[in-house]
Amino acid sequence: MKIKKTWLISFSPTGTSRSVVNALVSGLRGIPFENIDLTSPGMVPARQFDPDELVIIGVPVYAGRVAPLAVKRLGILRGNNTPAVIVVTYGNRAFEDALIELRDIALQAAFRPIAACTFIGEHSFSGPETPIAAGRPDSGDLATAEAFGMKISEKLAALDDPETAHCPEVPGNSPYKKGMGPLPFAPVLLESACTQCAACLPVCPTSAISLGTTIEVDHTLCIFCCACIKVCPEDALIIDADPIKQIRQWLFEHCTERKEPELYL
Ligand SMILES: Cc1cc2nc3c(=O)[nH]c(=O)nc-3n(C[C@H](O)[C@H](O)[C@H](O)COP(=O)(O)O)c2cc1C
Repeated sequence: MKIKKTWLISFSPTGTSRSVVNALVSGLRGIPFENIDLTSPGMVPARQFDPDELVIIGVPVYAGRVAPLAVKRLGILRGNNTPAVIVVTYGNRAFEDALIELRDIALQAAFRPIAACTFIGEHSFSGPETPIAAGRPDSGDLATAEAFGMKISEKLAALDDPETAHCPEVPGNSPYKKGMGPLPFAPVLLESACTQCAACLPVCPTSAISLGTTIEVDHTLCIFCCACIKVCPEDALIIDADPIKQIRQWLFEHCTERKEPELYL
């Protein structure tokens, strides 16, 4: 079947899921594509996709599930038997039930998952002293994603109708493991280091950061994605909450063995 357009749909506070989705589409040579970025809090209009379009959906894993805000924001998109490639990116610990959950979300929204994959992205809690999957996805990961994109275009070319497409089995349990609820803390500002450049404001997916007399982070809105920490040129936003510091240390000590992308076609 001929695909008239590919839509790259991502929720990606620290950019790793978006990199993978971009690499996948570069393997689908010759098909025009457009981005739908669900990361920023601005309104993305609800829309339905056609059967001769392709969507590539990329989201991060939070606590072994699809990041809850990604689930919510994906809710405005619907397919019409539209082929879909589903991608979860995780920080080298585990993706657990996130891929099967994303498959179910896609199916419930009338998409037809024809390919699925998991990739590793630098962990949101990674830092210079406690690197966790630092630099991932790297050039090898992106080459794997591009090659998988080529395989997907071959699968699409051999298809007459998305309804007849094989929907690959993916790992994970149903019912899913318990996901994460709201966290009672947020990154903390080192006022002496902050220059109030405000680089952290636009990257926050929930508009939890504001600039008054100083930078303020509203912990009731914060999802602890760490986008603000990673973008700050002065390292003025830090992880200070003990439970997150303990998780970061545990990840640094236990998640060092390199995991590799998994591809399902
Ligand atoms: C709150 C939170 C929970 C996370 N849970 C997991 C997890 O269960 N397993 C894992 O390997 N990585 C986990 N991560 C790491 C992210 O999945 C990883 O950094 C991902 O690459 C981020 O995607 P993004 O760059 O598209 O935002 C978590 C990150 C955050 C912020």
